[in-house]
Amino acid sequence: MLDLINVSYDTQIPNNVGLSSDKRVLKALEKWHPGYINWWNDLIPQNFQESMVYLRTAVSVDPKGWAKFDYVKMPEYRWGVLLAPQVEDRRIPMGEHLGEPAWQEVPGEYRNLLKRLIVIQGDTEPGSVEQQRFLGLTAPSLYDMRNLFQVNVEEGRHLWAMVYLLQKYFGRDGREEANDLLIRSSGSEEAPRMLGAFNEETPDWLSFFMFTYFTDRDGKMQLESLAQSGFDPLSRTCRFMLTEEAHHMFVGETGVGRTIQATCEAMKTAGISDPYDINKVRDLGVIDLPTIQKKLNLHYTLSLDLFGQEISTNAANAFNQGIKGRYMEMRLKDDHRLINDTYNVLDLDGDKIIEKEVPALTALNMRLRDDYVKDAAGGVGRWNKIIDKHGIEYEMKLPHQAFNRKIGVFSGKNFDPDGNLVSGAAYDQGLTEWLPTHADGDFIQSLMKPIHEPGVYASWIAPPKVGIDNKPGDFEYVKLHMA
Ligand SMILES: [Fe+2]
Ligand SMILES: [Fe+2]
Repeated sequence: MLDLINVSYDTQIPNNVGLSSDKRVLKALEKWHPGYINWWNDLIPQNFQESMVYLRTAVSVDPKGWAKFDYVKMPEYRWGVLLAPQVEDRRIPMGEHLGEPAWQEVPGEYRNLLKRLIVIQGDTEPGSVEQQRFLGLTAPSLYDMRNLFQVNVEEGRHLWAMVYLLQKYFGRDGREEANDLLIRSSGSEEAPRMLGAFNEETPDWLSFFMFTYFTDRDGKMQLESLAQSGFDPLSRTCRFMLTEEAHHMFVGETGVGRTIQATCEAMKTAGISDPYDINKVRDLGVIDLPTIQKKLNLHYTLSLDLFGQEISTNAANAFNQGIKGRYMEMRLKDDHRLINDTYNVLDLDGDKIIEKEVPALTALNMRLRDDYVKDAAGGVGRWNKIIDKHGIEYEMKLPHQAFNRKIGVFSGKNFDPDGNLVSGAAYDQGLTEWLPTHADGDFIQSLMKPIHEPGVYASWIAPPKVGIDNKPGDFEYVKLHMA
């Protein structure tokens, strides 16, 4: 009998989808596998391929105790295909097919839309690994290096997850799309990744933490809404991916928090109370709070763009057709069809930001973005508690949604972080205060010196409160292979 909770290792590819009895898909995945390994090997610097990294590997998809921790060389990580268990008699939770049995095969009329959503999701996964490829060289500790690599191997597995769906359910063009996922590459001129935020650089560790806090959180919102899909294999895939995503956001939130903590501690010890005394703060070997805020502004606004246009008929169709739901669809108390409902979206009336009531179906992108903004605010509040505890007067803030946008009604307009429209000249001048400058980048880069001694941390970041897998403070999370 098929065991759909525990991971089977009877093929090269660990899985809980019965691959050993699905020869066609197994063969397709085995054909795709070498290209994937090449992609990984080209990406991650050679020393780290040989190093032993203390990683968690999924051994079950049971939410209780699915992970096993052990040392593993990254190219030998057991990537695989893991789906959350099938819910018996699952029904489509929204749209015109509400209440009908969830689809186990792709409905012909929705094939293209489904494929497109899966390809877009799949494209983000290797994109982020590409963006983070050089960070191992400047890790502020072995603990942080291990977390980076954990996030990287899991994004690799998320790629596997999407490739499995393409290979199993979309025939020949699914195979082509799976191959193209290894051809496009972050920041490439000829074949960039599909979404803007995944072509930006992640030049330093503070960017990495902001990215995992803000951009992986967009990933969480997208996965949450795809987990509602009437296409059951997609729903099950996304449900398992979400359990991994939580760790990525933990890495982001605690990484930024520990950066803030190191800054505040250093300021206190040196008797500096003015957070804007930037040069003095930087002389302490920590990142001043206003620069951390600038990084926040950048990564938050890039992530807002990932939600697309505020008003979208594509989003309406995907919901109506039962392909993509809302955040927490099952817990929402309404008719789950939204035919007669309205929703307020932000819009512009001339130069003024207004709220406009529109049909709820067309506003689903905006709604998901609103849920995201609420979700993202939590960590910012916790960061401010750290600052507060050190008696420093400074507050981190999410900038207004109109600031620095490239997509949606506010794109290309000169709004400041408080949501005021300013002149072009004022905007250009303000930007040096609102977004990281080259000089800020150079300063942060100057702090990015690798630390390889177990239990030791770079000056700009505080140690974590607890270790991974409850390991002690001086645990050797990565056994480096020195060439
Ligand atoms: Fe992911
Ligand atoms: Fe992630």
